[in-house]
Amino acid sequence: MPQVPIVRTVKALRARVSGWQSAGERVALVPTMGALHAGHIALVMAGRRHAQRIVVSIFVNPTQFAPSEDLSRYPRTFAADRAKLTDARADLIFAPTVPEMYPDGFATTVSLTGPAAAGLEDAFRPTHFPGVATVVCKLFTQCRPDLALFGEKDYQQLQVVTHMARDLDLGVRIIGVPTVREPDGLAMSSRNRFLTPVERQTALVLHRQMQGAATAIRAGTEPETALSAARFAIAGAGFALDYLELRDAGTLAPVNTKSGFASLATRPLRLLVAASIGTTRLIDNIGV
Ligand code: PAF
Repeated sequence: MPQVPIVRTVKALRARVSGWQSAGERVALVPTMGALHAGHIALVMAGRRHAQRIVVSIFVNPTQFAPSEDLSRYPRTFAADRAKLTDARADLIFAPTVPEMYPDGFATTVSLTGPAAAGLEDAFRPTHFPGVATVVCKLFTQCRPDLALFGEKDYQQLQVVTHMARDLDLGVRIIGVPTVREPDGLAMSSRNRFLTPVERQTALVLHRQMQGAATAIRAGTEPETALSAARFAIAGAGFALDYLELRDAGTLAPVNTKSGFASLATRPLRLLVAASIGTTRLIDNIGV
């Protein structure tokens, strides 16, 4: 089977996409930073249900990493990524260089509030979402896809991108795809490869505690009591906990965790966690 083709310039990308769209085909974009796993392939498969053509961008975006976060540590596995996308029958890889994305004198950043300022990831990575939103906005205007797919694993990112696409009339429909998990419940992530075998086992605590808290809240336990117990268990397992929060699923605004589930459950709720084990920071979330 021939390998999925690669384009590296915006001009070449636009030529392919506009050719498909003029022939009446819908185009889906799956933005990635490579190091692809089953979660990314699920985005490609979901794209197939909505579009005839799938473009996958692979670009390790430097502007979403803070100086303290090691950009050079981010896994780069391009040959393996291409093989996986060939198997998944993606139609095109867009793999631009850094100067193609950020030419000399680049001076524009998307400014965000709303879900990007919810006090979750933004509180610990203040430059992250401006970097994500700017590169995603560029990818949308470069590719001009009909729709784009993002994993629910990065739930705050999904809400940020959804709001941005609506607020800036980017003309791209955003589709969120459920998190793909290992059989034992660990959310798939390119960062899981950094876990030692012991940390990998400990990492299961995150999903289990979230599930336990969600079940208790649904059964009528005061949310704050359930959250406190889960926070205690996560820290006790050896994690440095950044947050475990119950939020409005759409806006990510805080909810009153001292009130009963019946009064909270008038809107969808989301439980979100971020915690580090050793040198690896993990995030996860579930619906409540
Ligand atoms: O989720 C990611 O991999 C990245 O944040 C994204 C959306 C590709 C932007 O660089």
